[in-house]
Order: sequence, then structure tokens, then C-alpha cells
Amino acid sequence: MAEQIGSLHFRLTKRFGGKTVLDDFALEVRGREFVTFLGPSGCGKSTALNLLAGLIPPSAGEIWLDGTRIDGLPPERRGFGMVFQNYALFPHLTVFQNIAFGLELRGWPRAEIAGRVRQMLDLVQLPGFEDRYPGQLSGGQQQRVAIARALVIQPRLLLLDEPLSNLDAKLRLEMRTEIKRLHADLGLTCIYVTHDQAEALSLSDRVVVMREGRVMQAGTPAEIHDRPQNLFVADFMGYRNFFSLTVTGGDPDGTVVGRAGPLTLAGRGAAPLPPGAAGVAAVRPEDVAVTGEPPGPNVLRGRVRLTEYLGREYDLEVILDSGQTVKARVAQPVAVGSTVGLRLPAERVVILLSEDGGGGIP
Ligand SMILES: Nc1ncnc2c1ncn2[C@@H]1O[C@H](COP(=O)(O)OP(=O)(O)OP(=O)(O)O)[C@@H](O)[C@H]1O
Ligand SMILES: [Mg+2]
Repeated sequence: MAEQIGSLHFRLTKRFGGKTVLDDFALEVRGREFVTFLGPSGCGKSTALNLLAGLIPPSAGEIWLDGTRIDGLPPERRGFGMVFQNYALFPHLTVFQNIAFGLELRGWPRAEIAGRVRQMLDLVQLPGFEDRYPGQLSGGQQQRVAIARALVIQPRLLLLDEPLSNLDAKLRLEMRTEIKRLHADLGLTCIYVTHDQAEALSLSDRVVVMREGRVMQAGTPAEIHDRPQNLFVADFMGYRNFFSLTVTGGDPDGTVVGRAGPLTLAGRGAAPLPPGAAGVAAVRPEDVAVTGEPPGPNVLRGRVRLTEYLGREYDLEVILDSGQTVKARVAQPVAVGSTVGLRLPAERVVILLSEDGGGGIP
């Protein structure tokens, strides 16, 4: 397939008018790596991708590909493929012509183009669709054509901007698997943009969580999921229970203990937290367990205010004496109004610095 890249590294700032949309956004991507930019709407994901593709110029910064500076090159000379969120197929061209476009632009001979387009259609599992127009295809089929069109030039790097966001839930899962298969089979290097954490976790070798044009945390899916470093990442990754606390002690193994009002909570420290420091304990509903144990360290007591049946499990909302609500996801039904004990397993509790640069408890 395409010539492999060793590494791409960049450091980019982008301003629109007076507004800084990317603030010294820096990263190194290794060959064959699948890296995802994950973050809320407006955090600068598409802007970053468009800068890498060369569709817009940076306000400051550099892009290096294997020792060559490429930020001065026009898009077609960078050798990158791009899949856009809205497919961006040419409506008046057939599937064949859409896929062939990039090859014609590069002056490929007609006979070779036909062979290569057929190969791409096989790859995305759309053989026989050559003569259809985009309007005659389903959303998923259009998305496959968009991927074929990006891959046909044997890109050194494939950039994908929320390629699955217009598809229904079932097709989204299918196409996710498809993208994973293409990445593995072709040894592609991919940068993928999404605001869907499940998509990011399932596809990526590395996830870059962004907020307002900055990197909040970059790491493997497991690191981002299990060891968020700040409240923003924790909130984005599904931690729903937060307890403000004052650190009272800890162990060299990274365990931190704190007092949150009447509660004593232990968890894994996201950073060294000395006694007296203000912290926040964060835990996911899935990790909270109903228990018969009496209240004590990491065991709370409260009254069930709400239950919601999810098909396999139940979501509970439990009110503590302090008035705080705790969300739990449990396997067995619990009656509304009943009093329950809740265990927050210390190995699943993350203790973060309470001040994360403008975060606060989400
Ligand atoms: N051409 C432009 N002119 C002015 N502002 C822009 C322009 N393009 C983007 N922006 C602004 O830059 C910020 C980042 O936009 P961007 O499209 O990169 O966000 P995003 O993370 O891709 O969001 P989404 O998930 O909604 O697609 C937004 O505040 C947006 O309004
Ligand atoms: Mg976008």
C-alpha cells in the first residue's frame, strides 16, 4: 500500500479574528498509529485536521513529516487522504468518477484508474456500484465511497473528521469495525476526530482529549478511561460522581485518603496530593456497588430517589444525608424510598486536584 510514514509531528496555533481556536496544539504521531482527537463541539478538532490537510493556513507553528517541513505545501502535495463529516461526494459524478477523481488529478492513465477504482470498491465492500450516483446510495454506502475516495491515492496519512456521525446507531458500529479493519489490513496511519468517547476508545491506539484548543490529556484508551488526570477529562469520560475533599493522608503506592464532610474516601491519586490539599474524588456509576456493609471508609448510606430500568441494569439515584446525589448502575432492582449502602471501591475512585485550571466540579 502507501509508503509508510515514520512520524508526523506538529505544533500549531490558529486564530480566527481575535479568537485563539488552537493554542500551541502539539503532538507526535507515529507511523501506523491510530490517534483520535476527542473533545466537545467547538474545541478545535476540525480546525486541527484542516490545518494538517493544508486546507487552511496556521497562524503560527510547523508541521514535520519524517524530517521534512510540510506546512508550506498545498494539500495535494502532502499526500494525505481526508474523509469529511458530510461525505462531500460530488453529486453529479458517479461512484466510479468520485473515486477516480484524485487519480485523474494526478494524471494516472485511464486503464490503470479503472483497475484501481475496482480494487477500492472491493476494499470497502461495494463492488458493482460504479455507475450509481451519490443520491442513489444510503448514508453508509456514501460513507464507504468517501473512504474509498480518500484511500485511492494511497495516502501516507488518513484524516477522518467525524466520519460516522451521520449514520444510525447500527451502521455506526458496523462502519467502526470497517475502519478498524482497514487500518489494520492496510497498515494505515490515521488521525480521527470525534466527540464520541466510545468511538475513541474502541478505535484508537492513543486518544488526545481536547478542550478549547488545548490538549487536556493524551494517552492510551485505558489511561484516559481509568486514569483521567483532571476533572474535565473525568467528566468527559463518564465519571458522574464527584466529592470535594481535603486530603488527610496517603500511601507510597499512590493511594490518597481524604475527608469529604463526614465521609472518608480513599482512591488513586492522579497527582501527588499532600495532606491538606483540596481534591475531588471521582467515580463512575458503573463502579458504585450496593452493599450491606455499615457506613465506613468508602461506604456511604442513602435513600433511593429514582430508579431507571435499562434492559439489563438499573440506574439509581441515591440521596445521601448531606443532600448530595450519588448515581449508581446496578444489576438488581432496588425499591424507590429504600435505604441502601453504597461502596465506592478505592481502586476505582480517582482523586484529582480540585483546581484544574478553570474546571471546578462539572
Ligand atoms: N472559518 C472560521 N472563522 C471563524 N471562526 C471559526 C472558523 N472555523 C472555525 N471557527 C471557530 O473555531 C472554533 C473551533 O471550531 P472547530 O470546527 O475546529 O470545532 P470542532 O471541535 O470541530 O467542533 P464540532 O465537534 O462541532 O465539529 C469554534 O469556536 C468555531 O466557531
Ligand atoms: Mg468539527
